[in-house]
Amino acid sequence: MKKLAGYADAILEASNKMGKLIDDLLDFSRLGRKEMQKKKVNLHIVVGEVVQEMREELKERILDGEIDKLPEVLGDESLLRLMMANLVSNAVKFTGTRSRAEIKITCKEEGDKFTCSVIDNGVGFDMKYADKLFEYSIVFMRRTIVKAQGMVLRNVRRIINRHGGKVWAEGAEGQGATFYFTRQR
Ligand SMILES: Nc1ncnc2c1ncn2[C@@H]1O[C@H](COP(=O)(O)OP(=O)(O)OP(=O)(O)O)[C@@H](O)[C@H]1O
Ligand SMILES: [Mg+2]
Repeated sequence: MKKLAGYADAILEASNKMGKLIDDLLDFSRLGRKEMQKKKVNLHIVVGEVVQEMREELKERILDGEIDKLPEVLGDESLLRLMMANLVSNAVKFTGTRSRAEIKITCKEEGDKFTCSVIDNGVGFDMKYADKLFEYSIVFMRRTIVKAQGMVLRNVRRIINRHGGKVWAEGAEGQGATFYFTRQR
């Protein structure tokens, strides 16, 4: 009986992963086709709302930076919101093991160009994989999907590209990560 319950758990877990994979794939194809509804978007307000929606997950993580300095941009509000939510939720996920988790969002403007960053003090990554993070990969173990990763960042890159911007990552193993995005206004 115990064994059966174990199988049921495994099947449930596999189907949850499959469900998430399908959701991510649908997001990806939708992102490519969705007509952009461009208007003036205040990133400061969007990020404020994203953070508000995530306050449960954020819990005792320290969130600081200069959210109020985020610029007003011309873009598709729902895509930009999704992108910010994705970056912040990764920062939350990868600081999960930190007793003092810090997430910082900042932005710098130079002329008509701005560069924003989402910085965390989480597990980080090896710089040799910095570009691979934006690629999709599935890890199988005995024909079961154990991990699917990269879809979310691939979506982030797609959103930024569609806005004519760039996104990249910097980090070091065990020493946190920074995700930058930049564009001309
Ligand atoms: N803040 C971060 N710190 C360290 N590594 C990160 C961070 N954000 C993303 N990564 C790395 O980039 C990979 C791809 O990120 P992505 O969000 O696409 O997938 P994921 O977080 O693994 O899975 P999912 O978001 O679908 O649950 C991650 O697996 C992780 O290795
Ligand atoms: Mg993620």
